[in-house]
Amino acid sequence: MSLPTVFDSKSPFPADFVWGVATSAYQIEGAAAEDGKGPSIWDEFCRRPGVIADDSNGDMACDHYHRWESDLELIKGLGVDAYRFSVSWPRVRPGGAGAWNEKGLDFYERLVDGLLARGIQPYLTLNHWDLPAELQANGGWANRDTVHRFVEYASGVARRMGNRVSAFTTHNEPWVIATLGYDKGIFAPGVKSHAQAAQAAHHLLLSHGLALQALRAQGCKSRLGIVLNLSPLLPATASEADHLKTRLEDGRSVRWYMDPLFKGSYPADVLEFMGADAPKVVPGDMATIATKMDFLGVNYYTRHIVSANETWDAHDSGYDVTDMGWEVYPEGLTDLLLRLHHDYPVPPMYVKENGAAFKDELDGGRIRDVQRTDYIARHIEAVAEAIRRGVRMHGYMVWSLLDNFEWASGYEKRFGIVHVDYETQRRTLKDSALWYRDFLQRQNAARTQRSAQAIGV
Ligand code: FCB
Repeated sequence: MSLPTVFDSKSPFPADFVWGVATSAYQIEGAAAEDGKGPSIWDEFCRRPGVIADDSNGDMACDHYHRWESDLELIKGLGVDAYRFSVSWPRVRPGGAGAWNEKGLDFYERLVDGLLARGIQPYLTLNHWDLPAELQANGGWANRDTVHRFVEYASGVARRMGNRVSAFTTHNEPWVIATLGYDKGIFAPGVKSHAQAAQAAHHLLLSHGLALQALRAQGCKSRLGIVLNLSPLLPATASEADHLKTRLEDGRSVRWYMDPLFKGSYPADVLEFMGADAPKVVPGDMATIATKMDFLGVNYYTRHIVSANETWDAHDSGYDVTDMGWEVYPEGLTDLLLRLHHDYPVPPMYVKENGAAFKDELDGGRIRDVQRTDYIARHIEAVAEAIRRGVRMHGYMVWSLLDNFEWASGYEKRFGIVHVDYETQRRTLKDSALWYRDFLQRQNAARTQRSAQAIGV
């Protein structure tokens, strides 16, 4: 296993670099219909036969709704600076509009206060995919009305806990929502329409910009931004067809989001490709989308190799492949961060998700997940390399704290650095968690040493 060079006092990470772990509401909370929570599109989607690999759902998940306190102790024990979690919109405003659910708001308030009491910074995501089902009945993200409901929701949550939350992320991975949810239909809400997907993407971006403006107007001091899933794309061969396809796919997955957020326009080649399916844009929308952010969050798991005839398979490359079938390619993270830094006027960036699913085996109460540890260590090293080459990075968060409901893959894929026995809800730290804890201790020691040097002690 290659050990990272980031342990010593010459660590390239700035003293205020934020180390964390991440989760999301639907994937861990359970309590799907408790204390006044309304149904989300994922509650409904999971009921369709055949859409989730193991026919499961998030009804129970990791039962975090009831175990939040011991989970916070677990997080504290890791020695992280921050915990990234999401609020379930239908838990706090069950119908997406109308009455608020006090019990739901109380839950997140307890969570935020519990984090602060343990010295952990709360990083709150507003939309990690679980849209209130009632809004989907009117078209969901494809309906412009949802934009305004989202802004109300964001304002309500921020009014309640904005002064205590370090950072708000508006949306997690709008590409996944629009493309997998409204185009391919393999994620909730399971719609298959190019036009609806394009419109949903536009509305997600628009609601992001409007929410930023609303939160700032109400005096919210937390850092505000969005989280995108981005990957470098490379052609499988030197053929012209592969190059053209790569350029287009880069447009659809990277530039379609980065250009409007940082340049105020959609990429012309993608608009042309969409033709009549291109989204309806109202004058003023693009300027709203480009509202200045305090941070950009990047989720990185792998690179993508593009072939015009779709013959390429991650197993062909010779690199290790995770249980998701994703190639392990840490260099891609350095490449990606450098590209974003060079091509766009980006604010400080965070890796908001990075991690890997592998098959784990309990061995006398221990999980020796060497591959996951190696994956995380090598990606941290990739971030270090980006920093050495001039990229402003403010944080790194492991996906995920816990094994959890991995969307259409159900519970079959385990991303946690903490193992969850779903029968007993017992949590066991995997070797990767022990490694991360140890790594963070050394980082903290390096920090202390540096600040002592800085003040001449
Ligand atoms: C990301 C999601 C996250 C998790 C990881 C594996 O796309 O944001 O919820 O499912 O992938």
